[in-house]
Amino acid sequence: MHARAVAATTTALLGTTLLLPTSEVRAVGAYDRPLVVAHRGASAYTPENTLPAIDKAAALGIPWVENDVQRTKDGELVVIHDDSLQRTTNVEEVFPGRAPWKVKDFTAAEVARLDAGSWFGPAFAGTRVPTLEQYMRRVEHNHQKLLLEIKNPQLYPGIERQTLKLLGNEGWLDHRHLASRLIVQSFSADSVRIVHDLKPGIRTGFLGQPSTADLHQYAGFADLINPSHGTLSAGYVSTVHAFTGPHGSPLRVFTWVVDDAARARTVAGYGVDGIITNKPDVVREALDAS
Ligand code: G3P
Ligand code: CA
Repeated sequence: MHARAVAATTTALLGTTLLLPTSEVRAVGAYDRPLVVAHRGASAYTPENTLPAIDKAAALGIPWVENDVQRTKDGELVVIHDDSLQRTTNVEEVFPGRAPWKVKDFTAAEVARLDAGSWFGPAFAGTRVPTLEQYMRRVEHNHQKLLLEIKNPQLYPGIERQTLKLLGNEGWLDHRHLASRLIVQSFSADSVRIVHDLKPGIRTGFLGQPSTADLHQYAGFADLINPSHGTLSAGYVSTVHAFTGPHGSPLRVFTWVVDDAARARTVAGYGVDGIITNKPDVVREALDAS
């Protein structure tokens, strides 16, 4: 029996399938095959966490994109992965005396001066670090869906509330978006719990692989458990699926970062609900072919 079918059977035996409203089933996971999520946008082909990266995902026909949200010195939410601007911008050239170039030590106006594309390739020269507001507007324009990661929340007190306020201002906390277009995740369980407590209608994900003995605690505030693919097994996925999350559905599993076709088919066989990838076209084709 296919791992997904095994998981579904396990869940049914535990009685939780009967609790699933149809809208919940459609919203996240429980598809015939895993969702494909473009990690930092289509980041194998475009500079990560930029507007071209989500445009590329859209051009490839990939609705789901993932990003990383942090905060500038003067309180602007921006989309960037590292806590430093060094790797993905020309900050060293523009502000040579400001090592180690932490995001939290630069104002939004300073960040807006940086080139976040040239490091990737000359075709992307002049690309900017997007503010979260700019990013949300482009995701909306592209009719895409967002797996939003709150990155390094320990550096940015209150970032959860601030992020939700911005999402609300952008119209992303209405029923339509909450039901099918938004998941908020973090490596910080505290941050995920805060998001859940502030806005219980939001689907949330915990990044990591808690021990099975601890999963019941995560099921109180997280709808998804999102582990690295390297340590994943079919047994772990079906164990996660046996728990019911805060919205009455089985916990889901989105795994990361899988760029290889064979590995994508393997983790799909484990029964995962989503695959987060820098090469969403490769993963989609791998799943199409299996
Ligand atoms: O969405 C999963 C993945 O983004 C977690 O790792 O370091 O790329 O943010 P990282
Ligand atoms: Ca991330």
